[in-house]
Amino acid sequence: MITRQELIKKYIEFFKHKGHKHIPSASLIPENDPTVLFTTAGMHPLVPFLLGQSHPLGKRLVSVQKCIRTGDIEEVGDKVHHTFFEMLGNWSLGDYFKEDAIKFSFEFLTKELKIPLEKLAVTCFVGDKNAGKDIESSKIWKSLGIKDERIAFLPKEKNWWGPAGLTGPCGPDTEMFYWKSKTKKVPKVFNPEDENWVEIWNDVFMQYNKNKSGKYEPLKQKNVDTGMGVERTLTILNELEDNYQSSIFKPIISEIEKISKKKYKSSDSDDDKSMRIVADHIRTATFILGEEKHLTPSNTDQGYVLRRLIRRAIRFGRQLGIKENFTSQISKIIVHEYTDYPELARNHKSITSALDEEELRFLETLEKGLKKFNQFVEEFKKIIPGKEAFLLFQSYGFPIEMTQELADEKGIEVDLEEYNEEFKKHQDLSRTMSAGRFKSGLADDSEATKKLHTATHLLNEALRQVLKDNNIKQRGSNITPERLRFDFNFSRKLTDDELKKVEQWVNDKIKKSLPVTREEIPLTQAMASGAQSEFGSKYPELVSVYTIGNPKSFISKEICTGPHVSNTSEIGNFRIIKEESSAAGIRRIKAVISN
Ligand code: SER
Repeated sequence: MITRQELIKKYIEFFKHKGHKHIPSASLIPENDPTVLFTTAGMHPLVPFLLGQSHPLGKRLVSVQKCIRTGDIEEVGDKVHHTFFEMLGNWSLGDYFKEDAIKFSFEFLTKELKIPLEKLAVTCFVGDKNAGKDIESSKIWKSLGIKDERIAFLPKEKNWWGPAGLTGPCGPDTEMFYWKSKTKKVPKVFNPEDENWVEIWNDVFMQYNKNKSGKYEPLKQKNVDTGMGVERTLTILNELEDNYQSSIFKPIISEIEKISKKKYKSSDSDDDKSMRIVADHIRTATFILGEEKHLTPSNTDQGYVLRRLIRRAIRFGRQLGIKENFTSQISKIIVHEYTDYPELARNHKSITSALDEEELRFLETLEKGLKKFNQFVEEFKKIIPGKEAFLLFQSYGFPIEMTQELADEKGIEVDLEEYNEEFKKHQDLSRTMSAGRFKSGLADDSEATKKLHTATHLLNEALRQVLKDNNIKQRGSNITPERLRFDFNFSRKLTDDELKKVEQWVNDKIKKSLPVTREEIPLTQAMASGAQSEFGSKYPELVSVYTIGNPKSFISKEICTGPHVSNTSEIGNFRIIKEESSAAGIRRIKAVISN
């Protein structure tokens, strides 16, 4: 049995030997990316570098990245879907391209993981108006011993990856498949439709940037981006039929067995499905709650996803017959298991209290809400009106997706359109849905965001100066072309006078036309020079640092990926539009700039 730790170590070591530098997993909450709520792939934190910015650690990188994808949340319950997963990946930033990428993949699969050649097949891009047929990749595969009949050429829906948001780097890919059946013989010819062929790895050749008008422009450099899911690969290597039987989920499932007094049989029964949902969702919730940003369940953004996950887990926990509070008991196992993410242990207390609180709150209304739901089914028979679905949300805390799922189980529908109208009427709840959120693209480096980004650094320093508190640190930042949003630790509301002074401080520095410079230096040197870092972030040993003002008597110095304007005079007029609480002990400022 190969374990999670062994697989990760093998991968990282292999690529380190091939000249790659190991970069730490970035936060699950993407910085400065308004188009997605969570980090969805290993390449996600690397977007600026795929677009051409030089990376402090060089052109070859390797990582294991914690990721969340919630698009398939309703699929979770089967044996292969998850909302949280870890992704192994190696990158070439304008260094090696198809030949080495494919050779590395082949060597790792066949030599390190010892997968027999006859159990492998690959797909390549068939070509369209944006990019030609990928004959080059198929030739490389053939030179390594993959037979013609084990290579399939597929269209864009299958063999093209990205962008991760609306815009950004993307390109054709070549995917590797493994024959998983223990009973059926491997067929000579590869049929990608046959479910016994499972994808194990994906090499993306990122040579395009999809821009805001939907055009594919060639990138400054040709990159390689690869992704291998840890959960899936472990299942394959251990010849299991069910991801939940791997070393990752075993201790979690056994805790659920203990609490529910039921045995997991890896079947399609309702009980087994419930166990898988509980295991998956509590693992994801634990990782979100374990972030240093201290998110809590709420009705907007990441907080809403968190709420959906916890509440869905609780509902299926009840279905399993669990009567007592159980979510924090399961999360304890996860915190103990993932020692390589020390933030989980560090935040164990707040993870536990957030889960306990959410569970208590939901249990107060769950039974009553289910009764109400059943009454609606009796009354309306075919379709639950939006007003009633909204009542279930507002008075009983049923996320709309839960009502839909319950309705689905009864074979009836929910009037979503009417629900959305009701929802919009309650403006304070509608922030998640607001169109503005999805307006700009991933890794938007427009002039507007650059200006706001530099303004954010000035704001960060202004707060420490005006409030005379050197312990103030950034706890989160989110920039769209319209505004900046900045979270920091401070125990009380800022007065109007203080806000005015902060504004003046920033505008004064803008007027002084200060230079903004970037340098790449070792992390230890950056820290020693007084550069600001974000609380709880992990950084590589070489980092890029932005300095505002004279390097010897600087106004601001921060470890940061950028991009920034080159002189503060480019920013314009800075104005704070809101100051509010964002979490316990954390304040949030929103600000805009105008010319
Ligand atoms: N970005 C690609 C994926 O997510 C490869 O890393 O599959």
